[in-house]
Amino acid sequence: MSNIIVLGAQWGDEGKGKIVDLFSDRFDIVARYQGGHNAGHTVFIGQQKYVLKLIPSGILRPGKLAVIGNGVVIDPVALLSEIETLEHAGIDVRNQLAISNRAHVIFPFHRLVEKISEDSPDRVAIGTTSRGIGPCYEDKIGRRGIRIADLIDPAAFAALYQPLRKDKQSIAKAFGIQTLDDDVLDSYRELAERIRPMVRDTAYLLNDAIRSGKRILLEGAQGTMLDIDHGTYPFVTSSSAAAGGACTGTGLAPTRINGIVGVSKAYITRVGAGPFPSEIHDPRGDTIRHAGNEFGSVTGRPRRCGWFDVPLLRYTATVNGFDSLIVTKLDVLDALAEIPVCVGYELDGKTISEMPARQDALAEAKPLFETLPGWQTKTFGITRLEDLPQRARDYLHILEQKTGIEVGCVSTGPERNQTLIVPGSRLQKLLC
Ligand code: GDP
Ligand code: IMO
Ligand code: MG
Repeated sequence: MSNIIVLGAQWGDEGKGKIVDLFSDRFDIVARYQGGHNAGHTVFIGQQKYVLKLIPSGILRPGKLAVIGNGVVIDPVALLSEIETLEHAGIDVRNQLAISNRAHVIFPFHRLVEKISEDSPDRVAIGTTSRGIGPCYEDKIGRRGIRIADLIDPAAFAALYQPLRKDKQSIAKAFGIQTLDDDVLDSYRELAERIRPMVRDTAYLLNDAIRSGKRILLEGAQGTMLDIDHGTYPFVTSSSAAAGGACTGTGLAPTRINGIVGVSKAYITRVGAGPFPSEIHDPRGDTIRHAGNEFGSVTGRPRRCGWFDVPLLRYTATVNGFDSLIVTKLDVLDALAEIPVCVGYELDGKTISEMPARQDALAEAKPLFETLPGWQTKTFGITRLEDLPQRARDYLHILEQKTGIEVGCVSTGPERNQTLIVPGSRLQKLLC
């Protein structure tokens, strides 16, 4: 019985939502372990499009349980709005969703604090999603945050909310902002009542489920290069998107995890600021952006596009211990005559194959490319490895060789069935 983690191997938007939705029919529970409504996971089921932000993609499978783990930060307004949208689409959210009582709550003042930080001339603007994610995690780590268990206890909530609001008021004043957002104590008490029936101790729930023979898929948000420890700090999100976060963010011990699977595009994208060595600065960037519809599903921002980056993938494979790699959006490269792959960096006159820790060093690193021939044949929708053009198979083979990780699955379109699982791969075994 395997429990697996599926997470982003790059800077997010790798197609995790599609893959988790596809795999979730083989699991009983899908659990999110970090992030918040900064995530946007797009899933197509036939012509129907769903964009999931806080709720794990497993919710789209009738009868499956979706769990929001303790490592997630929850904006109650965003959560209830997402629940409503899914209910309108006929999904039985109330019976399929469990929310951790230990998850932290995002308040409107978190967004204000984020705006102050992003707009401040003395601080580095990260290009965040403006959802209050960072300041909420700051309060969590600062041991003054408010958790779902507190939110649903009116007395505890009032006692914790007022000092936290006062704290934010002083920050706002220090930055010359006289009026803080509205006091939401009463309105959030109402929201708490609507959330209460879904609140559980999800660490017990998940561990009990494993004991009774159930299988769990842990769904990452963002990507390893946005991880607070392992990413391109400070241009990262504020949570542990890498595999380790799946344990701290759910209460499942590392011994309960049987496999770790990375999701990567056949190229790479990034939203927001920060170093990006293999970024494309010529019209081919636009070609990929349009062919791949690379516009943020949460903020609508155009995503920066680049060529597949081998050192980056080797690094994320190392810190996550990937068993297998899923390569998505292969079809987006169909029209290209040549496909460069970044195989190393040049820094201070030396060739390096490791990711430098300092973001300024990564920004200065010059990418070294090997150029492969494109296949210039349609791969869109192909579901068997043997049906891929030979040059596309060669491309995948080279990624496999250079990263040292098997390619266990290839995605050739946004829909569930536009996917192939490589026969005999470790991934196939993990999914059995
Ligand atoms: P996530 O955040 O990792 O779940 O990824 P997003 O949903 O933000 O972005 C991935 C986008 O690519 C979505 O619009 C998907 O519908 C789409 N997508 C996923 N896999 C494929 C694929 O193999 N081919 C194409 N053309 N689109 C894909
Ligand atoms: P999914 O799960 C891509 C980026 C933001 C910004 C940085 C910090 O859909 O892959 P934050 O609001 O989290 O404090 O912003 O992280 N970012 C993402 N980029 N996909 C995401 O999620 C992202 N979530 C956050 O653009 O650069
Ligand atoms: Mg996304």
